[in-house]
Amino acid sequence: MTTIDRTKLKTLQQREESRFLADHPKSAALYNRAQSSLLGGVPMNWMKKWAGAFPVFVKSANLAHITDVDNREYIDLCLGDTGAMTGHSPEIVADVVARRAKEGITLMLPTEDSLWVGEDLKRRFGLPYWQFTLTATDANRFAIRIAREITQRSKILVFHYCYHGTVDESFAALENGVVGPRRGNIGPPVNPAETTRVVEFNDLNVLEDALKHHDVACILAEPAMTNVGIILPEDGFWPAAQELVRRYGSLLIADETHTICAGPGGCTAEWKLNPDMLVFGKAIGSGIPGATFGVSEEVAQRISARIHLEDCDVGGIGGTLAGNALSLAAMRATLEYILTPAAFEHMISLAKRFADAVAENIRAAGLPWNVIRLGARAEYTFASKAPRNGGESAAAADFELERLLHLYALNRGVLLTPFHNMALMCPATTEADIDAHTKVFASAAAELTS
Ligand SMILES: Cc1ncc(COP(=O)(O)O)c(C=O)c1O
Repeated sequence: MTTIDRTKLKTLQQREESRFLADHPKSAALYNRAQSSLLGGVPMNWMKKWAGAFPVFVKSANLAHITDVDNREYIDLCLGDTGAMTGHSPEIVADVVARRAKEGITLMLPTEDSLWVGEDLKRRFGLPYWQFTLTATDANRFAIRIAREITQRSKILVFHYCYHGTVDESFAALENGVVGPRRGNIGPPVNPAETTRVVEFNDLNVLEDALKHHDVACILAEPAMTNVGIILPEDGFWPAAQELVRRYGSLLIADETHTICAGPGGCTAEWKLNPDMLVFGKAIGSGIPGATFGVSEEVAQRISARIHLEDCDVGGIGGTLAGNALSLAAMRATLEYILTPAAFEHMISLAKRFADAVAENIRAAGLPWNVIRLGARAEYTFASKAPRNGGESAAAADFELERLLHLYALNRGVLLTPFHNMALMCPATTEADIDAHTKVFASAAAELTS
């Protein structure tokens, strides 16, 4: 097995940084100008995490491709970290959104699109009743509130190194087995140890121990973890975990925001899971803000019995723009025409092509890395074996190496998600796009190991 020579890595990083600066004068000028009006020079702080001295500023994006202000073109495998899993601005969604925008955007009244979307979600995921929010974060927060209300329990349970959006309770992690704020948690309202139990994924014993306290309202979980690399559940994990959830009177919220990549009904449909609630955001409206949560018949009855008409607007579940007509129109067009079974077939076969080629190059270079795929999403990790849980995956992280690989790819026209080594396919991604990434990856691996 080859180990990475850190001196070589630094030299390559410096070379790639110089190339980046030379290639992006217009982005550099905009970034400099932004320093005097945007905090940190970016519209949102995580944009600073892109490899390179600054994020490239975008001129336009169409389907699987982005053009920046320096007229450089990119194959986009980041796809807005799943927000643009449909491809950027698919024509039919853009047309529907443009029409809806002229006919009323936010009304505080329902449109027929909401029924169509609710009926489609019911078919995809099997849960009977749906509500709409602007973000997956909100959908998770509201699902947690419902779980707490109907179980009258205070705690939620998450897996170590999960990510579910900016949900306060989920920014908890284990440190030497003790729950506390996750590294980087900015101004936690309370120590998350008060609100949250944290256990490692794929471990039924620790899950049962945590549930035995009878204070867990719900488990908030991605069916496969996708935010610390991809971590697949072991055979039998979910059937047994679901059984434990029921036995100890908790509820399961399946956050399918990323795992929708497994198929039209996410992992829930693919693996025949039976969650009490389900969350789906980001890609649901092709990037127009919108998300949803669905509930089982039992959850619907239990929560309906506790919400009174007079107070239903001030219960902590809502948002003025939630369920707006524009979001629902975008969701309908996306579900009807873009995230179709045929599109998934295409995306999944491309992700296989991506993963097979990366695995082959890892083998050829003798690198102690591996690549894991979940449906239309693939990700490589700097560990020779696929990690079983968040702790193992986080231990394999290598920020320096990750940044070099991302910058190397960006400088050669391929965008990877800035947060980890994720590549996602959209319906318009082509085999040529994947092969372009393979070439870049092979070249980086060869330079690193020569
Ligand atoms: C699994 C999962 N759930 C929820 C969210 C939150 O989505 P948003 O930031 O759109 O609220 C994310 C964001 O990355 C996510 O990965």
